Amino acid sequence: MSAQHAVVVGGTRGLGLVVVERLLARGFDVTIISRQPSPRHAGNSKVRHIAVDLEVVDSLDGVWTKACDALGQISYLVLCQRFRGQGDPWEGEIQVGLTASRCLIEGFADHFTSAGDRAIGVVSSVYAQFVGASQPVGYHVVKAGLNEMVRYYASTLGRRGIRVNAIMPLTYMKDESRQFYENNASLADVYERLVPLRRMGHAEDSANALNFLCSEQASFINGQSLIVDGGVSVVWPEEVAKNFAGL
Ligand SMILES: NC(=O)c1ccc[n+]([C@@H]2O[C@H](COP(=O)([O-])OP(=O)(O)OC[C@H]3O[C@@H](n4cnc5c(N)ncnc54)[C@H](OP(=O)(O)O)[C@@H]3O)[C@@H](O)[C@H]2O)c1
Repeated sequence: MSAQHAVVVGGTRGLGLVVVERLLARGFDVTIISRQPSPRHAGNSKVRHIAVDLEVVDSLDGVWTKACDALGQISYLVLCQRFRGQGDPWEGEIQVGLTASRCLIEGFADHFTSAGDRAIGVVSSVYAQFVGASQPVGYHVVKAGLNEMVRYYASTLGRRGIRVNAIMPLTYMKDESRQFYENNASLADVYERLVPLRRMGHAEDSANALNFLCSEQASFINGQSLIVDGGVSVVWPEEVAKNFAGL
């Protein structure tokens, strides 16, 4: 049995992949839940993949037992998944983003260690509070719902010593999108002018925030959704418009 075990849902790509790297660097054994394993983890004895399609409600049944029978009770559960299917985007977003998150949190709740730091980290988005036409309405509703779910479980699971928090990232560069942004210099210019820190965010920035929230360093932080946007959300839009208009 592993001394320290964490579960990362959606840990095969993008932000989830970096979260897994951070946990491995801290010595954790990591169970990843997604549809397909990542070749990045092939042959790594510290990583175990459980194939689950979160769009299929029944496929979640007992996944918490399967994960913990093999590697022991968990210290951390990190939810990084997002709907990437072909079906109706409203139903898909709600199922993969919201319903599956509730099932996973409730299913794993009885499988946390009885001592030591324990936490759930949820990946929400700035679209929980702000509106952007590049994402469908279902995505906005899911992320807003996740923030409230975090507050609900922070209260109920907090009584059992399990902290529950979220991060709300702005669009970030990840391994899979790096080439796209490098080929579109005008986008990099937009972020340089928009973000007070004068750069686009990276998946690593968000992974660092999750790594903090899922650690003893955040031992009294519970029920919070932390914006990770380089300061964009504190700037009044009129100032941004003037800047872009060269005024
Ligand atoms: N990308 C951004 O700029 C950005 C900004 C703000 C917030 N976010 C949020 O950050 C999180 C990660 O996004 P990302 O863009 O970094 O990663 P991503 O490339 O969208 O990866 C999604 C992960 O979820 C898994 N997944 C998708 N559908 C699934 C299903 N039906 N069943 C089981 N697993 C499924 C995927 O694995 P499989 O394919 O193996 O199933 C993958 O590991 C998401 O919650 C997203 O909403 C992203």
